[in-house]
Amino acid sequence: MIKIARLISGTRISQDIKNEITEEVKEMKRTKGIVPGLSVILVGDNPASKVYVRSKQKGCEEVGFKSETIRMDKSAPTEDVLKELDRLNNREDIHGILVQLPLPEQIDKAKVLEAIYPEKDVDGFHPVNIGKLVTQQKCLVPATPLGIIEMLKRENIVIKGKNVTVVGHSEIVGKPVSLLLLNEWATVTICHIETRDLKIHTIDADILIVATGVSYLIKGDMVKEGAVVIDVGINRITKDKANQELLEWRKEDFENKGATLIGDVDFLRVEPKASYISPVPGGVGPMTIAMLLSNTLKAAKNIVGMK
Ligand code: GUN
Repeated sequence: MIKIARLISGTRISQDIKNEITEEVKEMKRTKGIVPGLSVILVGDNPASKVYVRSKQKGCEEVGFKSETIRMDKSAPTEDVLKELDRLNNREDIHGILVQLPLPEQIDKAKVLEAIYPEKDVDGFHPVNIGKLVTQQKCLVPATPLGIIEMLKRENIVIKGKNVTVVGHSEIVGKPVSLLLLNEWATVTICHIETRDLKIHTIDADILIVATGVSYLIKGDMVKEGAVVIDVGINRITKDKANQELLEWRKEDFENKGATLIGDVDFLRVEPKASYISPVPGGVGPMTIAMLLSNTLKAAKNIVGMK
């Protein structure tokens, strides 16, 4: 008998979260006259960044936030970004600030991230927020890791005591999600590009989280029967790079757009073994936006002194 994993729909869960935020925003506006405000700084014209920033703005509109994008030239020096941040830090109508990454080479990323007031740092990348995450103090936490935990919790998947393997050690996903899982009492293994034998770590996982940007990295024989699999990868595969199986599976995407999006997990091989699996697209992706909105609401409530 072939079992079929339960799909964890980030599209559905993120919509639930956005509906909850919309209600809270209405209430905040009615009782306090305050509308949460998010400002996004976009330096340069990286096409992927432009798409992400547009989805963030669209998310803000959906829940009734004020939002704005500040576009800066790709040759802008660090000082110009710092000046802009200083202005935003001091604006009363802006509760959340984020600088879209990656930044052009000439910009000192560490300096920029440290210049955002930790209270407005809705990406959770400021060293103060990272330090608070390590020491389990209240803080703003990066959106994608927060989205992964939220997906597990809303599907009633127990984390405490589980063996969790995280593949990928990035500052945006791998490291913070590992800390969050540890704070939830999971036994966490972190794998990365120098891990010698990936399979011995993935096969042992009750929950497997993959965030590497390498398509087909996780094959069917690397996953334990009944595991929960969260695929954070977003890889755009054009028609000329697709194998026959993908061309047939995503026929419509290739016909309409000439490309498709897949994760880091060989979905068709892994899905029959998993108990739960998050798809790409429609899994972690939409959760990131929902949790960014949740962070902005949280920042606004903190700043205006609401619980
Ligand atoms: N680039 C890719 N992911 C992210 C993110 O979560 N935040 C920001 N600011 N930039 C990114």
